[in-house]
Amino acid sequence: MKFSLFAASLALVASVVASPLQVRNGCPNCLSKEAATTLVNRFIGVLDHAGSDLGDANATAQAILDNNYQEISDSILSLEGQPLGGVTFQGKQEYIGGVLNAPPVEGITTIRIYVADCNSVLWYWNFLGVGSGQYEIKGFNLFTLNAAGQILTTELEFNSIAWGLDTGYQIIFPPSS
Ligand SMILES: *[C@@H]1O[C@H](CO)[C@@H](O)[C@H](O)[C@H]1NC(C)=O
Repeated sequence: MKFSLFAASLALVASVVASPLQVRNGCPNCLSKEAATTLVNRFIGVLDHAGSDLGDANATAQAILDNNYQEISDSILSLEGQPLGGVTFQGKQEYIGGVLNAPPVEGITTIRIYVADCNSVLWYWNFLGVGSGQYEIKGFNLFTLNAAGQILTTELEFNSIAWGLDTGYQIIFPPSS
């Protein structure tokens, strides 16, 4: 009786000690800033084709993306001359093929990383090596994660005029009014 009471109080202490680690911002299993930073660095390893602690770029992408991965970006659709509002990639393998069959993105730098709503990560970035690299390209990726911590959706918007200029688009300014 004494022993089981002791064991029960030990268990109570353990749960009280453990709860601040598991519950952040009032959410169970909330993503930590450290985990978000690791995720962003692995995602960078896909974009620059260098891979990560999980393996090469393909192995990294297989691990960090949900099978129904979706990318949404009006900035990309603008550059492609496509109607706005649609998805730019639907499905993990389509995305991996698209990224790994294109040249690696060079000069990726991180400005800031935030966790929101426990399962979303905001990555504010500056790409310094796209095309000619003449203009820096700042943008934001908003990642929404599934219950397993894989990226389900990426919504990204960036300075698509700078991207266009770095990759050879001609900008024609409107006549001044
Ligand atoms: C990535 O790896 C998978 C097998 O895990 C393979 O089927 C696919 O072709 C690879 N994709 C690229 C772009 O290398």
